[in-house]
Amino acid sequence: KIAGPSGLVIFGVTGDLAQKKLLPAVYDLANRGLLPPAFGLTGFARRDWEDQDFRKIAHDAISKHSRTPFDEGVWEQLSKGFRFVSGEFSDDSAFERLAQTVQRLDDERGTRGNHAFYLSVPPGQFPLVLQQLAKVGLSTPAEGTWRRVVVEKPFGHDLTSARELNDVVEQVFPPESVFRIDHYLGKETVQNLLALRFANQMFEPIWNANYVDHVQITMAEDIGIGSRAGYYDGIGAARDVIQNHLLQLLALTAMEEPVSFEADELRAEKEKVLSAVTIPRDIGRHTARGQYEAGWQGGEEVLGYLQEQGMSTGSITETYAAIRLDVDTRRWAGVPFYLRAGKRLGRRVTEIAIVFKRAPHLPFDLNETQELGQNAIVIRVQPDEGVTIRFGSKVPGTAMEVRDVTMDFGYGHAFTESSPEAYERLILDMLLGDPPLFPRQREVELSWQILDPIIDYWAKHGKPEQYRPGTWGPPSADAMLARDGRTWRRP
Ligand code: BG6
Repeated sequence: KIAGPSGLVIFGVTGDLAQKKLLPAVYDLANRGLLPPAFGLTGFARRDWEDQDFRKIAHDAISKHSRTPFDEGVWEQLSKGFRFVSGEFSDDSAFERLAQTVQRLDDERGTRGNHAFYLSVPPGQFPLVLQQLAKVGLSTPAEGTWRRVVVEKPFGHDLTSARELNDVVEQVFPPESVFRIDHYLGKETVQNLLALRFANQMFEPIWNANYVDHVQITMAEDIGIGSRAGYYDGIGAARDVIQNHLLQLLALTAMEEPVSFEADELRAEKEKVLSAVTIPRDIGRHTARGQYEAGWQGGEEVLGYLQEQGMSTGSITETYAAIRLDVDTRRWAGVPFYLRAGKRLGRRVTEIAIVFKRAPHLPFDLNETQELGQNAIVIRVQPDEGVTIRFGSKVPGTAMEVRDVTMDFGYGHAFTESSPEAYERLILDMLLGDPPLFPRQREVELSWQILDPIIDYWAKHGKPEQYRPGTWGPPSADAMLARDGRTWRRP
């Protein structure tokens, strides 16, 4: 589906997200023919730029980060609709200029009064930007047109602040006009989880506590926090990615089949799972957290977290977190879901591993099955997107020896179509007014409800354990699984 006539205003357009993801995604959409000629994009930031300067910066960002090859013709047509408004968020006259710019886009590009406002700014600035939009009337659509707001995570830093933030947003935009971005939901493989589960007959019958031993959801990154101390310090791994990305993955893995993929149906199923999640009674034994120290990674010497630029001294922010959760439903009773996320780990990989119980009986000599593990279905979210199934197979030879083998499906091999970047899909869906891939406030609140007690517990129990870069996290994470008689996968 192609978006209708519309404009997109990006606040914080000089920031990292806009430069690396949002502008390239807009270009890629245009290049794939998914944006109409009647499209306009307005950047708003403090820089003292003219439209021409903005176009130049956007051109550089796009040619560096876009997925699709750069096409002069597409750029020409698209960038004619690029405008820039320079100003502070506190400056009323800047917002008046913005209102005029948007109005002119309607006249010059035919955007017809349909506009979205992307808040790519720290949440602390949401109230001011929203008030200003309301003041100049930009948040109120005229008859037959729409106005939408897009907010990026973090949606608050705990349940209370998430509620406060939402109140601020919904005072200005009605709930159906608020699009909350969790970019993991825009990833191809995350959506494939729905196809895998609900388009097939062979997985769903075993997708439950009768057959599944436990689930491991891993989001490992090899990068450190780089220049993001200002954002990351005081936030940490649990708030940064478990509250949103990993709990969304858990919800999609554990939910029942929705009646349809309509927004309300899909979100209702995810919410049911999130409300059934319980945290361990003994938080200390069933969670782990760590902070990377200085060391070597991939042949390169890297700084420890505490030495990163802009870091507060003695910070106890975790860069690694592992948590055991349970889902108290008939389908999942007794099946732990282990979630872990960390920076500066062995390599970049995100995966969901469904690990099965052992066969109830093995008609082999124990010696013959020494190298036989548990069956597993692994959804490889990234990189190397695909699905792996692990099972036992006979080792060639005269003995009846059994060993683990894997069967792989890889997107790169099976399809010639290239997958859109997560932000492409999400921006397009937002312009189309198609909400299933955007979490609603209830999901955000349920996720904080799960995490708040854990984060509180950590805050009262000293420092995270140090771990070496390039490893798989602190030893306490291994100990946490060992207590349950299990081990982490080494993806
Ligand atoms: C963001 C986090 O949401 O996701 C970052 O704030 C993290 O800390 C990033 O690096 C990872 O995204 P992706 O798509 O590269 O897995």
